[in-house]
Amino acid sequence: MKLLLTAAAKSVHRAAFYKSSARYLNSLANSGLKAEPLLMVGSSRALVHRLGTQVEVRSAFINEEEEAELLRELEPGLKKKRYEFDHWDDAIHGYRETERVTWGAACQTILARVRSVAFASGSSLLGPVHVLDLDKTGYIKPHVDSVKFCGSTITGLSLLSDSVMRLVKADSPSEWLDLLLPRRSLYILRDQARYDFTHEILKDEQSLFNGQRVPRQRRISVICRNLPA
Ligand code: OGA
Ligand code: MN
Repeated sequence: MKLLLTAAAKSVHRAAFYKSSARYLNSLANSGLKAEPLLMVGSSRALVHRLGTQVEVRSAFINEEEEAELLRELEPGLKKKRYEFDHWDDAIHGYRETERVTWGAACQTILARVRSVAFASGSSLLGPVHVLDLDKTGYIKPHVDSVKFCGSTITGLSLLSDSVMRLVKADSPSEWLDLLLPRRSLYILRDQARYDFTHEILKDEQSLFNGQRVPRQRRISVICRNLPA
C-alpha cells in the first residue's frame, strides 16, 4: 500500500512538473494573459524549456466560421482524389493531398494571419500551400521535412480533428516532446525543432497526450513553409 501511494504521488508530481513547464511555454506564446490548457509535455523540463522558443501551439487560432470557409474551398478538390493506403514506404499513410496557390478572399485573410505570426516579414515563402487530408485511420510516420525544399519554419492549421504531434530527437530518441494539436489550432516548428527532431502525427490507436486519449477523426492540415536560405 505504501509503495502504491508513493508511485501515485510520484506520478502526480511528474504531471504537475511538466504542466508547470508547459504553462510557462504557453505563457511565452500568448503573452501570459490567457490561462491555456496544457498543450505540450516532454521527456524533461530542460528539453521543454530549450525547445520552448522553437515550438508553439496556439489553440483556437481560427474560429468555426473560418474553418468552414477553408473546408468549403478545399473539399471539392480533395473529394476527387482517393486516399492512398498502399505506399508503405511513404512517410504518410491513409492520406490524400493537394497544393494550392490561389485562394478566395476569406481564406487569403486567414493565411495572411498564419504567415504573419509564423514568419518574419520579408522571408521567402514556399508559394503553394500544402493541404494534407488524413483519413481517420491515417497517420504520419516520424520524418524530417526535406531540407532541400523547406526552410527553417513549418506551420500548420489543424481542421476537423484534434491530434497529437510527437517530436523525437533524431540522434537521441529518449528526448521527445508531445504536442496536443486541438482542432482549429496552429502549430509552428522552427530551427532545431524542425531540423534535429522528427515529427509525426499519431494514429488513432496510439493517440494519447499526457496519458489522456485524444480520439483521431479525419484531419485536414493546411501547411505553410518557408524556402531554404
Ligand atoms: C508533412 C507533415 C504535418 C501535418 O506533411 O510533412 O509533417 O500537420 N504534416 O499534417
Ligand atoms: Mn513534415
